[in-house]
Amino acid sequence: MIIKECKECKLSNTRNKIVCGEGKGNILLLGEAPGKAEDMLGTPFIGKSGMILRKLLSLMSLEEVYITNLVKCRPPGNRNPTEEEVDKCLPHLSNELHINKPNIIIAVGRVAATHILDKNQPKRGVLLKVNNVLDYSPSFNLYVSHIYHPAAALYNPQLLSVLEADMRNLTKEINDIRNPHTIS
Ligand code: URA
Repeated sequence: MIIKECKECKLSNTRNKIVCGEGKGNILLLGEAPGKAEDMLGTPFIGKSGMILRKLLSLMSLEEVYITNLVKCRPPGNRNPTEEEVDKCLPHLSNELHINKPNIIIAVGRVAATHILDKNQPKRGVLLKVNNVLDYSPSFNLYVSHIYHPAAALYNPQLLSVLEADMRNLTKEINDIRNPHTIS
């Protein structure tokens, strides 16, 4: 399936641009679906909530990440994607997983978390070792987690410090996995 021409669901009638994943690295951040700014430019997380997410990533020196969304086209009015839209779009995510081979997957927000972590229930901001995510089951160790969606912090600024604390904890756990013999 060539993603640039995807017409698998009716979001193709209203989208401006398909928003493919971008970035490099073995950490994959998975959002819900593009918003207005992303739909216009075709890049994930570049609107207001994207600014928060990207600022947190740079604060934590976690710039080597691949950022994508569960659904690649904007749902009108930023509504949640329907089950059918998610199902039709999952093959794109599966391709991204098999091509990028992440060993850490962080769901950003409840919608992404419920779709990829259904059987694996890590605590928010804590890594959990799992065998697979969807049909992606690598031969190396795979970890998953989830954080609040930064859009929630736009509505409730108190969540910003929770989001920051969760990212800080995740960064520490990621560094521990990468450098298992370093005592911090
Ligand atoms: N919210 C998301 O979940 N993804 C984006 O790309 C932008 C906002």
